Amino acid sequence: MPAVLQCPGYPEAKLRCLAESLQCREVQASTLLALMGEPQQYSYPSVFIYGHRATGKSHVVLALLTELELPHAAMSCVECFSRGLLFEQVLMALFGPEAAALLPRCASFSDFVRVYRQMCAQEPADQTRYIVLERAELLRNMEANLLPGLLRLQELVDDNVTVILLSEIVWDKFRPSTGCFEPLLLHFPDYTKAELQQILSRHSHPSYTPELYSSYINILLGVFYSVCRDLRELRHLAALNFTKFCEPLEKGEAQESDTHKLWRRVEPHLKRAMQTVYLREVSSVQWEQQQMDEKEATALRGLSAHAHVELPYYSKFLLIAAYLASYNPARTDRRFFLKHHGKIKKTNFLKKHEKTSNHLLGPKPFPLDRLLAIFYSVVDSRVAPTASIFSQISSLVTLQLLTHIGHDDQLDTPKYKCAVSLDFIFAISRTVNFDIVRYLYDFL
Ligand SMILES: Nc1ncnc2c1ncn2[C@@H]1O[C@H](COP(=O)(O)OP(=O)(O)O)[C@@H](O)[C@H]1O
Ligand SMILES: [Mg+2]
Repeated sequence: MPAVLQCPGYPEAKLRCLAESLQCREVQASTLLALMGEPQQYSYPSVFIYGHRATGKSHVVLALLTELELPHAAMSCVECFSRGLLFEQVLMALFGPEAAALLPRCASFSDFVRVYRQMCAQEPADQTRYIVLERAELLRNMEANLLPGLLRLQELVDDNVTVILLSEIVWDKFRPSTGCFEPLLLHFPDYTKAELQQILSRHSHPSYTPELYSSYINILLGVFYSVCRDLRELRHLAALNFTKFCEPLEKGEAQESDTHKLWRRVEPHLKRAMQTVYLREVSSVQWEQQQMDEKEATALRGLSAHAHVELPYYSKFLLIAAYLASYNPARTDRRFFLKHHGKIKKTNFLKKHEKTSNHLLGPKPFPLDRLLAIFYSVVDSRVAPTASIFSQISSLVTLQLLTHIGHDDQLDTPKYKCAVSLDFIFAISRTVNFDIVRYLYDFL
């Protein structure tokens, strides 16, 4: 039974209804309600709400404002990317289009304040007006006076108005060096596993029992919780894989009580789905299509998922060089990459005690100069690269195919690690006709 939200001045039935949709966020919702106070009371001038993605920040704030029918303007700073748009949208939502029309072209913050005052002299607030700005960190890129101005808007326009800023970034990164009015801070912590279970289980499938759905969610979280805690992603995954989970039930091969059997059937699917969380290499439709073509070439799927990663020609060689640098011991470079290395005895070269495959140990970090040495050796016969190698390296890092190791301040000796799988590098090598197996120490 969810705790009941309480605050005088709001209809009780609505608060009860809200508590229903704000599960696991009762504490934050009641704090916010307490800050807001009764509708006609002045509330604190600005509130700063922060927390990771999908922790329910927007959900809670907007649910409160819409369900309690409070006058508000809610917008994202992504859409209102200029102050002009922002002012226009706020005035439009609070006072209607005629207010927005009063703004001059390229309105400054003081124009906004002037129009706001003019409008609220005509329509004084009988209850608190709220301005909700999502992705508030983007405000920092607009005029320097915008953020401090919004934080004390209540005082500037002399109206019962509260500005609520939502962000994933902590307040310390916002505070201008010149100081400003400090908003009240409200943190939304991450959902725990049990809370995710509770929230996700709420929307069960109409043709199955809530218990079945709940055990499905339990399985799902068991697989994904360690890699993904984003409620939105998890919800998407839950919807995507539920039919697969129910397949044995549909075919009459299992009972609802056979959770173990159902688990065994769905687990490999979930594991495969895990490869595409966050990267979202395929759309949901493509994913379902792939699941349909199940029988065909299972081994190739890993590759086909990557097949559309289209890299520039030399980037492919850079990646190959990075792979070789990560998986070959540095002392073997001479043998592989020096043209006239003379006779290096195979027995010297292969150390007997090195039983463990480097592939089992995972990629090792390597310095930039080693990468470049190997790179120039493997592109050798092909045309000499003209494009900037360094920018291609940083693109590979951005694409997360390479990992940059070490601290930002160590500019002189950057180290990297190759982050792609063997299958992936095979596929890449094939596209440039490079026989990588001949250069890998483990395959000798
Ligand atoms: N406690 C909750 N109960 C039900 N749904 C929730 C809850 N918290 C978040 N959600 C849902 O999860 C999604 C992401 O939440 P959102 O409020 O947009 O996150 P944030 O703004 O913190 O990034 C939304 O679809 C929202 O409806
Ligand atoms: Mg949000």
